[in-house]
Formats: sequence, C-alpha cells, structure tokens
Amino acid sequence: MTFDYKVADISLAEAGRHQIRLAEHEMPGLMSLREEFGASQPLKGARIAGSLHMTVQTAVLIETLTALGADVRWASCNIFSTQDEAAAAVVVGKGTVEDPQGVPVFAWKGETLEEYWWTAEQILTWPGAETNPELGPNMILDDGGDATMLVHKGAEFEALGAVPAAADDESEEGRVFLEVLRASLQKDPQKWTRVGSRLLGVTEETTTGVHRLYQLAEQGKLLFPAINVNDSVTKSKFDNKYGIRHSLPDGINRATDVLMGGKVAVVCGYGDVGKGAAEAFRGQGSRVIVTEIDPICALQAAMDGYQVATLESVLAEGHIFITTTGNKDVIMAEHMAGMRDKAIVGNIGHFDNEIDMAGLARIPGIKKVEIKPQVHEWVLDEGTDAEKSIIVLSEGRLLNLGNATGHPSFVMSNSFANQTIAQIELFTKAGQPEGEREYEKQVYVLPKILDEKVARLHLDALGAQLTELTKEQAAYLDIDAAGPYKPEHYRY
Ligand code: NAI
Repeated sequence: MTFDYKVADISLAEAGRHQIRLAEHEMPGLMSLREEFGASQPLKGARIAGSLHMTVQTAVLIETLTALGADVRWASCNIFSTQDEAAAAVVVGKGTVEDPQGVPVFAWKGETLEEYWWTAEQILTWPGAETNPELGPNMILDDGGDATMLVHKGAEFEALGAVPAAADDESEEGRVFLEVLRASLQKDPQKWTRVGSRLLGVTEETTTGVHRLYQLAEQGKLLFPAINVNDSVTKSKFDNKYGIRHSLPDGINRATDVLMGGKVAVVCGYGDVGKGAAEAFRGQGSRVIVTEIDPICALQAAMDGYQVATLESVLAEGHIFITTTGNKDVIMAEHMAGMRDKAIVGNIGHFDNEIDMAGLARIPGIKKVEIKPQVHEWVLDEGTDAEKSIIVLSEGRLLNLGNATGHPSFVMSNSFANQTIAQIELFTKAGQPEGEREYEKQVYVLPKILDEKVARLHLDALGAQLTELTKEQAAYLDIDAAGPYKPEHYRY
C-alpha cells in the first residue's frame, strides 16, 4: 500500500512507537473504547480529516479512530506542536519505514505558515475525491477551528467568485490563508463547496474553536452539525486545568530552566486554563498575580488567594507573564517594554494574537537573539544604560506545546475519549434523512451520561472507589442510580 504523507523524518518511527506504547498504558479511556467498539466498528465508512497537535497522545487517538473503523488524514493545528517521532510512528503504523501502512500525516515541528496551510489543505483533499466526491472527507476533528474555517471561508469565497485582496486584520497569517484559498479556487472553483456539502459534522476540541463555531451557528452560516467537545466537563475542567498545571511549568522549564520559586508570576485570565496556570506557579512557590476582565473570575482568583491587579500596574513586578485568555492584544509591545530585565513572556492560549509580537518587532532598535529554537531574547536599547531584554517563548504561540510536549497522556485520555465518542455520535446520527436527524446545523455538547462515562473509565486506574447510591437515596435526590447525577445547569 502506498499513500501520501509528509513528516520530518520517517526513521523516527521506532522511537515514536515506544512512546505511544507507554502512552496507551496511561490512556485507559481510549483503550477501553477500543475494547468496547473494536468489534462493532461504528466508524466504518468515516473519513476523518483531523487537525490537532500531532503529539504522542494524539497518535493514540488516531489509532483508536482507525481501530473503530475510520479512515483518517491528519495535520497539526499549530506550526510548533508536532512531536516528529509520533508523526513518523503513525505513518508507519503496522508497516515498516520502507513500507508504511499507517495513516497519512502531514505535520512536522517548525512549519512555515505556508506549509501549515498546505497541511490543512492536505487533510481535506482525499485521493480520488476530485472526480468522486463520495471519496472525500465526511468528518472533521478540529482543534481551534482552522480546518473548519478553511472549508467555510473557501465555500464563502467560491460563492462570491473571488477571494478578498487582503485579510481584515492585515496579519501575515491572514495573508497566507487567503493566498492558499486563492490558489485552490483557481485550480478547482467548487472544491470547498463540494467538501462542505459532504461533511456530516465536526467535533471541536478547544475553547477558541468552540467560540468560532457558536459565531457561525448564530450567523446561520454553519455548514454542518458540530459537537463542542471542550465543554464536556471531563474535557475543560480537566485538560484545560490539570493539563495546564502540568504542561505550563514543563514548557517554562524546558525553555528557560529558570527557578519559579520566589518569583512573581503574572497570569492573564482566570478561566479554566488560568486556574491551572496559577495553581502550577503556586505549587512551585511563585507569588501569583492574576489579571481578569470578568468580575466573577476575578473574585474567584481573589478568594483562591491570589492578588488581582491590572497588567499595567504590575509590569515592573512580574518575572514571568503568561497569557491564558483566548483573547487578542493582551500583552502589547508597550507592556513588554515596561517589564524588568529578562522577564519571561509566554502564551498558552490557542492563538498567537494574545501577545503583540508584530509590535515588539517594530520597537526601534530592538534585536532578536535566538537562544534556542522557540526561545528568543528581544534586546531593547542595546548598548545604552537602559539596555534590557525580554525572553519570549514559542514566538507567542502556545508554549506548552511549542517548548514542551503538551499535556500528559492521562488527562488527554479524558479529552480524547470525548472526541472519540463525539465522532461516533455525529457519524452515526448526523447522516439520516431530513426530519429524522438528531443533529442539525447547530453546536451540541455530549449528553451528561457520556461525560460521566468518560470519568468512570478513568477511576480504576487511579484506584478511586466510587460510592454507589442506594435506591432510597436515588429516589430522595430524584435521580437514576446509574446517572446522570447532576442537572444540566450544575457547574462543577
Ligand atoms: P476561558 O474562557 O475559561 O478563560 C479565559 C479567561 O480569560 C476568561 O475568564 C476571561 O474573562 C479572561 N479574559 C479575557 N480577556 C482578558 C483580558 N484582556 N485580560 C485578562 N483576562 C481576560 O477559556 P479557557 O478554557 O481557559 O481557554 C483559554 C485559551 O486556552 C483558549 O484559547 C483555549 O482554546 C486555550 N487552551 C489551550 C490549551 C493548551 O494546551 N495550551 C488547552 C486548553 C485550552
């Protein structure tokens, strides 16, 4: 069997396979879904275009999807987040380096923006689909919404008959994105309309991607149903919080090896990710300051014992500044210019627009020194008495995946069990004829009973013993002894 793929170095496959093997042991949710659904093959006929950080944990997800019958093509959703050995191992699969038999992966660490959008196009471009649309992708598994956006924007511009001359925000990213769409429209003027019409649905991993989906649905522009995986409790209250608590310090350590104890860490945003970030710094003995725009989250931070302040008021105080907001323009160039010498600045939100990298590069006389890949020192006022520098991690992209290897397997087993269940839900239920469909072109979350199932799958591995409700207790609480245990409005 031959297939197209592009990874950094296919010979890394063996190293990747060892890591995948160990990760499987730490991913009981995914492994038990393989056991439960391996024989019935609920994803047989699913052709999944996956856009999610190509890490070791994602390799276990991909191989779970194929074990359940799916055909898959995969790209990373960030230019720095691929673990090259994992990508190689997924391509090789059960084959050999000479005769790979796995999954077409298009991902490597350190892609250019042009390469990034090329890989995104590859996962949505299935062999034979140009002449036979039946062979194209019918599901997207997305993280951040770039694959979904490519299809939606492509179809929108095809309907208009042209791609705009410039991106709304005039960013480099936007320029490259439009270039890719212009080229594809020239080659195949109906490509994205065709791809969009064949898609049964998308399952979205993260807060930022979910935000984009709700916007599309509100505007009546969503082309297919979507499941918001992020807001499964066993995703956002675990991955976003406990995952970050692990992978944020991992990224800072691998990048700088700076001692966090005693330092002042400024965490911008106190949502799920910010809560994990603040707790990680506190665990290391840092003094943590939180910035927030939402009074509820600000009050939570204060009650959790953190100082809550504006960024402007603590610029000179902080040693480490981390953005976790999913918002744009949070740390601007003027902020960085006001920080102390060798302050560390990083982002762990999905996109790189939280930190004003373009503005930093425009500061007159500023010099960028590469300490090592994904760690840069920006020197201001060089040669003067005022000389100082700022250390920026992963060029403003999410540092836990740019400087380290992202969240650990166990927490990702929760997220990816939700992803797998969501893929099965949509693939098996979104294709019915109109009138009988359970999923319309809207955004859904998984039923609570499935959320509870994901949690249940992870208890044994931690030796956690669940108390069972008696019949009388269940009747008293007016719930089923088998769950769901909480009403929809419960917040955990
Ligand atoms: P969230 O919505 O729970 O939290 C974001 C918080 O930032 C909110 O409380 C909001 O009020 C606050 N905020 C917004 N603008 C702000 C500003 N200008 N200054 C201070 N605070 C501000 O979102 P969540 O789930 O915490 O996710 C945050 C980002 O992290 C998203 O982009 C998400 O996609 C991403 N993410 C990244 C992961 C990673 O591995 N790096 C893992 C999970 C999520």
